[in-house]
Amino acid sequence: MSTISSDGACRRVGAVDVEMDVNATAAALAVPIDDVEKVSRLAGDRPSAPLPAKADVPALLDRLAVPPADAAEILSAWPDAESPHWTPELRWLLDRSTALVRADLGGSSWLSPGPELPRERGPAWRHLYVYAYLALVDVTLQYHLDHAIPETVSWATLADLGRNLAVDRRMHGEGWPVMQAWLTLHTRGAVYELGRLQAHRGGATIDLHVPDAGPLTPAAVTASLEAARAFFPRHFPDEQYADFSCGSWLLDPQLREYLPEESNIIRFQRRFELEPYEAPEGLDCDVEVLRFGFRSLTTSLDQLPRDTVLRRALIDHLQAGRHWQWRRGRFPIERTSSV
Ligand SMILES: CC(C)(COP(=O)(O)OP(=O)(O)OC[C@H]1O[C@@H](n2cnc3c(N)ncnc32)[C@H](O)[C@@H]1OP(=O)(O)O)[C@@H](O)C(=O)NCCC(=O)NCCS
Repeated sequence: MSTISSDGACRRVGAVDVEMDVNATAAALAVPIDDVEKVSRLAGDRPSAPLPAKADVPALLDRLAVPPADAAEILSAWPDAESPHWTPELRWLLDRSTALVRADLGGSSWLSPGPELPRERGPAWRHLYVYAYLALVDVTLQYHLDHAIPETVSWATLADLGRNLAVDRRMHGEGWPVMQAWLTLHTRGAVYELGRLQAHRGGATIDLHVPDAGPLTPAAVTASLEAARAFFPRHFPDEQYADFSCGSWLLDPQLREYLPEESNIIRFQRRFELEPYEAPEGLDCDVEVLRFGFRSLTTSLDQLPRDTVLRRALIDHLQAGRHWQWRRGRFPIERTSSV
């Protein structure tokens, strides 16, 4: 472990033996200086977490639903002491990123684990935050154990790693910058996969997320809400929630102009009372519909597939010069009426 002191020098205080300054570290990692300073400040000299034993990793990756191609890359660049894939600066970042996320165990806000790296430089660069995730699995499991969370929920939740890696591969790497922050919610014990939905604790409401996991049938949603109603009072009795909430492109009422009333998306929408529209900061819903509807952020509209009613709607709406809206909605937890 190492810290960067006020004069910018980075000193050895633990396992990672590095001497560097912020500027040189940022240059070596090809990231902004501010990002390195932020990691250093947030992680301080707080404890990191050890990586699992290499012999246990194939089974662990399998349990986390990591696709074979990613599992092979992750193993090929395992950060053994002699690995040629790891520069001192990468080792520093892995160690401090793990410490930064661990320091916020139990926290529930989105958290960047560190700078967006030039992932094309190799598997260590590509998967640095995956190694941090793997180092934190035991920390997360202990947190879950402290809250008496069933193992099945723990592993279903943590296996979102593999789902995100698979999506990122479909997106040729375009998806990862958001995913590396998203996945810190899982490792900090903020998000739980309860059937079809992921439920996110710690804010004023239980925030619902919809993973890319097949159709959003009303029955599956109802069962998932039922599970969440029981889960939070049982495992987080000190937290009080009155409402479920959701923020998503799926809640844009303009979708009703295009999708049938009985489609799963519109039926999902009908559960929510929408909050007045406010353009969210730092999030462009026209980009988000490309992410979730096409899994490509850079293909031109006229090259995108038009094979489903939703995809045709997403394209036509944008080509007409209109915009999609990221909407927030909520409904009381005790409301169980179906849609
Ligand atoms: C949310 C989701 C499961 C809904 O899928 P669904 O249950 O099939 O939804 P609907 O029944 O409303 O689908 C209506 C139509 O839209 C199509 N459709 C729905 N979601 C689609 C998607 N992500 N991409 C392409 N087409 C989609 C369906 O195929 C159907 O078209 P068709 O009748 O021509 O076959 C799906 O969009 C998805 O997996 N999205 C990715 C995750 C996501 O967006 N999460 C929210 C993040 S904020």
